[in-house]
Amino acid sequence: MKGTIDDLLARRSSRKYSSRQIGDAELEEVLKAGEYAPSAMGRQSSVMVVLQDREAIAKLSRMNAAIMGSSSDPFYGAPIVIVVLGDRSNPNSVYDGSLVMGNLMNAAHALGLGSCWIHRAYQEFESEEGKELLREWGVPGDLIGIGHCILGYAEDLPKEAAPRREGRIHRIR
Ligand SMILES: Cc1cc2nc3c(=O)[nH]c(=O)nc-3n(C[C@H](O)[C@H](O)[C@H](O)COP(=O)(O)O)c2cc1C
Repeated sequence: MKGTIDDLLARRSSRKYSSRQIGDAELEEVLKAGEYAPSAMGRQSSVMVVLQDREAIAKLSRMNAAIMGSSSDPFYGAPIVIVVLGDRSNPNSVYDGSLVMGNLMNAAHALGLGSCWIHRAYQEFESEEGKELLREWGVPGDLIGIGHCILGYAEDLPKEAAPRREGRIHRIR
């Protein structure tokens, strides 16, 4: 159990990646951890779209950058982007999808992989271009974007966590 706590404390966001793909077995483990995230009423309505196709990643990267008014790659060259989306009709989609994101990132760390939450999935998939992409990928349903989990072999130096802000825990005893 100590290993789990250690992993939760040591995970950091990586923002530099090798272009080398990770193994299928590791990817499946990360995805399984995402599937096992808790969900409100056990509905399991979040979905994950796993992008390993360079062109598809580049297209989404351009869309994401455009939302920020930037032209740099918001996915930092990661060879995998897992897009987490939620069912629009489920009022708990953002909560459920965020837990999937957390599981993905913590599992990646436990396997020695780098990851980072990349935002703006909501704006991407509200756009006509985003909806068209989902149709092109064959992903059914009326979905909202929650986040992107980028994944790969990290090439940035290990980072110290920022000091934890004080006063965030209120104890009533
Ligand atoms: C909701 C959310 C959105 C985030 N969006 C981005 C993003 O768009 N780009 C990025 O580089 N990091 C993003 N991050 C990563 C945070 O910047 C990072 O988690 C935070 O600085 C703490 O660092 P750590 O993850 O290394 O502990 C996001 C994190 C969360 C939870």
